[in-house]
Amino acid sequence: MTDDGTEAETDPQDAIDAASAERERGRDPRVYEHTAGDVQEGIPFVGAGPGDPGLLTVTGKELVETADLVVHAGSLVNSELLERYCADAETVSSVGKDLEELIPLMRDAYEAGRHVVRLHSGDPAVYGAALEQMDALEQEGVPTYIVPGVTSAFAASATLRTQLTLNGTANHVAFTRPQGKTLDPEDDHISDFVEMGDVTTCIYLGTHAIPDVMDRLLDDGHDPETPVTVVYHASWPDEDIIEGTISTIGEKVEEVGYRASALVIIGDAGAGTGYERSYLYGDWANRGSETQEADD
Ligand SMILES: C[S@@+](CC[C@H](N)C(=O)[O-])C[C@H]1O[C@@H](n2cnc3c(N)ncnc32)[C@H](O)[C@@H]1O
Repeated sequence: MTDDGTEAETDPQDAIDAASAERERGRDPRVYEHTAGDVQEGIPFVGAGPGDPGLLTVTGKELVETADLVVHAGSLVNSELLERYCADAETVSSVGKDLEELIPLMRDAYEAGRHVVRLHSGDPAVYGAALEQMDALEQEGVPTYIVPGVTSAFAASATLRTQLTLNGTANHVAFTRPQGKTLDPEDDHISDFVEMGDVTTCIYLGTHAIPDVMDRLLDDGHDPETPVTVVYHASWPDEDIIEGTISTIGEKVEEVGYRASALVIIGDAGAGTGYERSYLYGDWANRGSETQEADD
C-alpha cells in the first residue's frame, strides 16, 4: 500500500500469471498495429540510455519533455538528463519501491489525466524488470508500451571503439549476469559462454562480483590471458575503463573500489584484437543484391 492509502487492485503476481496465460493464447493485437518507436496510448516505458543525455532517443526525449510524472531508475539514470529534459515534471525514483507501491503511483497519476513516463536505464528489455510492471498496470486497465534505449553494452563497445561481434573473433554476444542473490550457481553460464570461444560475454549486474567471477573462470581452466575490459559508467562524465585479463582484472577493480554500475566485457572483440576483414566489404560487396542478408 502507498503512503496515501491507495493500493493495487490485483496482486502483481496474479497479473503476471494472467498476462502470461493470455500470451500463450496469442499475441496482443497491438503487436501488429504498432512498430517500435510509435507513440501509443498509455504509459511509455522509455529506455533512458546508458547515461549521457544525448543517448536518449528522440522519441524518448519528446515523451519525457511533455511528462507530468517521470518515475525513473534512481542513480542509474543520469540526473543531468532529468534536469535537462524533465524540469517541468514531478520526478520520483523507483529505488526501494515495490510493485505494490509503484503500480498505484503510476495508475493513479495516469487515471488523473497526467502524462506518466516510466524511465528505465539503458534499454528496458535488458535486466529492466519492465514487463512485470507493464503487466500489473495493464491488469488495472492502464495501457503501456516500450520505447527502446541504448543498452550499456552498446555504450561500452562505443567507448572502447570496437564491436561486440567481429569477423573471425566473435560471432555471438551474450548478455548475462553472475550468480548471486537472484541467480542460482547452476544458472550462471558465464563459464559456458567463455568456453564457446567466439562469444563476447557482456556481464551486467556483476561489478561487485568481478573477482569471484574471474576466480571461477580460472578454476574452470580458462586461459588466464583472455582479455577482460570493465567499463564503469559508460558515457557518464566519470566514465572509467579498466583493462586486464581473467587473471588480473579482479585485483585491478578491487583497487579502484567499484562495486556497481560497470559493464564487464570478456573476449577478444572487447579488445578489438585478432579479427579479420568481413565478407561484407569483400567478396559480398561484388555480388550485388543476392539472397544472403548483409551485415552492417
Ligand atoms: C539493472 S541493470 C539495468 C541495465 C539496463 N537496462 C541497460 O540496458 O543497460 C544495471 C546494470 O547495468 C549496467 N549498467 C547500467 N548503466 C551502465 C553504464 N552507464 N555503464 C556501465 N554499465 C552500466 C551495470 O552492469 C549495472 O549493474
